Amino acid sequence: MKSLILEGFMGCGKSRIAKELSEDTGLALIDTDNLIEKENGMRISQIFESYGEEAFRDMETKLLQKLKNDGKCGIISLGGGMPVREKNREILKELGTVAYLKAGKQLLIKRLEHGVEKRPMLKGHDLEERVDSLLKEREGAYLDAADLVVSVENAEVSEVVFKVRKAAGI
Ligand code: S3P
Repeated sequence: MKSLILEGFMGCGKSRIAKELSEDTGLALIDTDNLIEKENGMRISQIFESYGEEAFRDMETKLLQKLKNDGKCGIISLGGGMPVREKNREILKELGTVAYLKAGKQLLIKRLEHGVEKRPMLKGHDLEERVDSLLKEREGAYLDAADLVVSVENAEVSEVVFKVRKAAGI
């Protein structure tokens, strides 16, 4: 069996939706940020501070490769930047079905207002400008990696879970 993988911008609800999907389906929950934090014994923000973004991106690629090699399956929640590297998108295609949880700029900004401290990609930037530019930069990669696109606009968690399950056929 293949995994169901959730991708999307920071704040789109990947972790929350993945947790619900895992509880609903009984499939294992695999959260790439959590695994990287556990492996390093550090929060993501500390990893960025100590080693820099490139090192974190290398950790992401290494983890995807390991998930593939171990044949580990489940509901996989990705860090928001994971699909940006072409290599990662290639591995994702082999790992399973990728669902892009799509949110518009305004919703993301509203949700991220209180989540800047733990997100090194946002810290020290003007939030609106940063979300706008990163979203423009990444949208192509999200769409390229996606097997299905599910809008999270005006939808409760349960509705998004329902839509993802229906679209993915699980
Ligand atoms: C990142 C998103 C974060 C985390 C890291 C980098 C990004 O995950 O992987 O801070 O580049 O978009 P969330 O999408 O869960 O916030």
